Amino acid sequence: MKSQPRIFSGIQPSGNLHIGNYLGAIKQWIDLQQTYETIFCVVDLHAITVPQDPDELRRRTIEIAKIYLAAGIDPNRSTLFVQSHVHEHAELGWILNTIARMGDLEKMTQFKDKIGIKVSHLGEIARNWSEDISKTKEDILNEIWNNDSRKIETAGVGLFDYPVLMAADILLYDIAAVPVGDDQVQHVELARTLARRFNKRFGETFIVPEAKVQKEGARIMGLDNPMKKMSKSASSEYNYIALMDDPEAAKKKIMKAVTDSGSEILYADDKPALKNLINIYSLLGALSTEEVVARYAGKGYVDFKRDLAEVVARFLVGFQEKFRAISDDEALRILHDGARKAREMASRKMREVREKVGFVSEMD
Ligand code: AMP
Ligand code: TRP
Repeated sequence: MKSQPRIFSGIQPSGNLHIGNYLGAIKQWIDLQQTYETIFCVVDLHAITVPQDPDELRRRTIEIAKIYLAAGIDPNRSTLFVQSHVHEHAELGWILNTIARMGDLEKMTQFKDKIGIKVSHLGEIARNWSEDISKTKEDILNEIWNNDSRKIETAGVGLFDYPVLMAADILLYDIAAVPVGDDQVQHVELARTLARRFNKRFGETFIVPEAKVQKEGARIMGLDNPMKKMSKSASSEYNYIALMDDPEAAKKKIMKAVTDSGSEILYADDKPALKNLINIYSLLGALSTEEVVARYAGKGYVDFKRDLAEVVARFLVGFQEKFRAISDDEALRILHDGARKAREMASRKMREVREKVGFVSEMD
């Protein structure tokens, strides 16, 4: 059998995935199974970099695996496993820590975002300064610095170190590419840097993989605000349709979705709300956007939304049927099989790494 290039991606075990995640990411991963040897990992070690309730984490880890299986990850084609089951991830993470530099990690924007530091202070300084003329620029700089340094003092070390563990995930499997959203490209860059640095110091060990950014991925906007991405952390549940939403409740969300002024069904940039709804219709209903528009020529928003609500509900019913058909035990069996396969690849790589670093080999 001709071997296919290998890709790896990680999935955070956070529940409440929505149709934006499905259409923008999961669906692409399913398609990648055709052309790549695919490895998907539920990254529970990453999840605990922010506080998690232990029972909830266990439940979500299994739930996310079932969501991916229901969406079409085929365990006969892909390796699907839980990160903490393959100890080599933590071990390589530690070794890479010893070659990563503070300066590498200080550049990472996700860490700053998560602890609430503004990525660029310049805008804030300018704004504060112009709003409060009683303060000097130095006062304001000091205020921001004091605030940030408190945030840094109390931030978890795991959160800071998150990208190094991610580099370990990426480098263990000799992969060609990492499919990620553009927010993760910086982390993949770090993995490339660490791979090169390790190879230079200890000899060729790691393949330097490419980030594979899903540009063609649909960007699904919030139902209550078409100017912002649909997001599970939105303040209103009318922003998103979760994959596990009750189909009837999802229909109501579609009926309540904001629309633009006018009454015709048009696909245009100056009708962002409608454009988003047509995109959802097109992607879930397997029609082109032109076909959707043609179907509603001469009809109004109500007809359009009622049908879209049906399309969404039908998709959810089908998806959830598949989800329910997978028992927790079956998902666990697939995850355990996946871990066995992943461990085989990872342990081979780690034997090489330990040898290169100079660890005395264990007794077999
Ligand atoms: P997140 O839930 O932000 O961790 O994202 C998980 C994956 O879903 C990433 O690949 C994102 O690019 C993708 N994603 C998240 N929200 C959307 C959205 N509204 N539209 C399209 N893709 C999205
Ligand atoms: N950091 C990624 C995210 O938040 C998840 C992740 C962890 C990952 N390890 C990975 C993605 C390895 C790709 C490859 O989405």
